[in-house]
Order: sequence, then structure tokens, then C-alpha cells
Amino acid sequence: MTLTNVNSPLTLTNGVEIPCVGYGTFRTDPAVTAQAVQDAIGAGFRHIDTAMVYENETGVGQGIKSSGVPREELFVTSKLWNTDRGYEATKAAFQASLDRLGLDYLDLYLIHWPANEKQFGPDAAKINAETWRAMEELYAAGKIRAIGLSNFMPHHVKQLLETAKVKPMVDQIEVHPGWTHAAEIKELQAMGILVEAWGPLGGQGAKVLVNPTMQKIAQAHGKTTAQVSLRWIIQQGVLPLPKSIHVDRIKQNMDLFDFELSADEMKEIAALPNLGGQCKDPDEVDF
Ligand SMILES: NC(=O)c1ccc[n+]([C@@H]2O[C@H](COP(=O)([O-])OP(=O)(O)OC[C@H]3O[C@@H](n4cnc5c(N)ncnc54)[C@H](OP(=O)(O)O)[C@@H]3O)[C@@H](O)[C@H]2O)c1
Repeated sequence: MTLTNVNSPLTLTNGVEIPCVGYGTFRTDPAVTAQAVQDAIGAGFRHIDTAMVYENETGVGQGIKSSGVPREELFVTSKLWNTDRGYEATKAAFQASLDRLGLDYLDLYLIHWPANEKQFGPDAAKINAETWRAMEELYAAGKIRAIGLSNFMPHHVKQLLETAKVKPMVDQIEVHPGWTHAAEIKELQAMGILVEAWGPLGGQGAKVLVNPTMQKIAQAHGKTTAQVSLRWIIQQGVLPLPKSIHVDRIKQNMDLFDFELSADEMKEIAALPNLGGQCKDPDEVDF
């Protein structure tokens, strides 16, 4: 697999192609979202990641429209928020997301977080299964080109597979230097699931981008620490979703294909201690 630019395709288990880097929109203020998305598409991004809970789907839809790029050339992901779990609520929430986005289909729809036993006790698995059943029906009806998960650890996925008819094609989890999820990535990939990395730069205010090891490696390649972080993710076969509202950074976050990290550099980055980020355990969250 040779990836030459952010839109080089990776292929999901159902044959759907997904551009190998996506543009993130978490914490993008609704007031600037349309412009940011238009800028990202103008810079060349074709893969946009949003979610109901970001409260900016309307702006994402406006940015898509004003970009002038035909819908079929874009790959749009949204996510089902935790308050909308369950069979009926999932279907309604999906339609509401589509309406806000002004689209008539999604390329990818994800369950944002698994229902966990801390909150739901023994009902957690059933809630996830019922949510997934609705996703499967929306997929079968052709309203979503691929369906997947987010923040599901391998044990949540295995539990879901006990009742699933369609295997999830994607799992979007937090991955960045200092928060590697290395074993989980391998396990998910072995299941045929494409792993996407959220917070690939460590998120807002993390120390990833000012870490001395990251700076040393960036300097050696004439790149920025952000580019090194994204490249480290790509070289693991994982799809990063960098977010920026600044055009210079948007362009920087696309310019990842003219250098390669050595095996030693990959290991050195993988060995970094926790440098911040959200670093949440999906079994412990209470939202
Ligand atoms: N599934 C989930 O639960 C989940 C959770 C969180 C995020 N996500 C998705 O993943 C995407 C990425 O995660 P994230 O937004 O938390 O964090 P991120 O992409 O790791 O980091 C974004 C932060 O880094 C800054 N930044 C971006 N490019 C930069 C560069 N080249 N140099 C220096 N700073 C740079 C941004 O600031 P500026 O915007 O000011 O440039 C912003 O503060 C989200 O936008 C969202 O789509 C999913």
C-alpha cells in the first residue's frame, strides 16, 4: 500500500474507499465551522469528521455546499451521541444529523462511545447491540456507506460481534504519542477493522507538539512535530483526523508524504510517556 497524499484511499472490509487522512471538527466553533470546512476542502481535504455532539453539523454541511466539490467526491462521517442510543433513538438521531448536514446519505456513521457497565450494569451489552441493529438497518437501506464504532476497546467489539450481523468497518479511538493504544490497534486491525486516530496531535493543550524527542525527530526530517505525529500514526496503518481552523496548519497537516520515519524513530515515539490528551477509559466514563 503506497499512500501518496491525504486522499490516497484505504479500503474498508465492504470495499468502500476512505481517504487516508480526515479533517477533524471537534471544538470548532459553530460560528466558524462553515469557513473552516470550506478552507479544508479548498486545501484538498476530501474526508470530514464531525459528530452530533460537536454542535457544528450545520456548519459542516454549509462548508461542504459552499466548497463546490461534488458530494460524491467527499467522505463525510458523523457519530451517534450517547443520549441517542437504542434502536428507535438511533434511527431518529441519524436522520437529524443528515438534516443538519443537508445531506441525503453519510459515508460513515459511528457509535460515539460504547454504553458501559459502570453506567448501565448488565444492560450495557444489550444497549450497544440494539444501537448496532439500527445502524445495520440504515446501512442495509443504503443511507450509510459504512458503519463503525468509536472508543470501543477490543473487548467491547467482541461483545458486539456476538449479536452483530454486519461487522464494524471502522473504530475511531484516541491515538497520539504518549497514548498509543498499541495492543488495541493490533487487535482491531487483526479483526479487519480500520482504526482511526482521534486527537492525533494530542488535542488542545497537550504537550505532544513541544516534546523534545518529537522536536529532535521533526528537525531531522525538516518537518514539524505535528507532521511527525501524523506520520507516526499513518505508518501504523492508522487513519489520523487532525483538526485545525487555520489554513497554514491545515496545509501542514496534509503535507505528510515526502518523508518516512525509521523503525527506530517509530519505536522512540512509541516509548514516550503520557504527554496529556483526553486519555479516557471508555469503561470509566460517566457521560
Ligand atoms: N471519537 C471521539 O470520541 C473523538 C474525540 C475527540 C476528537 N475526535 C475527532 O478527532 C479530531 C481530532 O482530535 P482533536 O480535535 O481533539 O485534536 P487534534 O487534532 O489532536 O489537535 C487539535 C489541536 O491542535 C491544534 N493544531 C492543529 N494542527 C496544528 C499544527 N499543525 N501545529 C500546531 N497545532 C496544531 C489545533 O488548533 P487550531 O485549530 O487553533 O489550529 C487544536 O488545538 C476531532 O476534531 C474530531 O473530529 C473524535
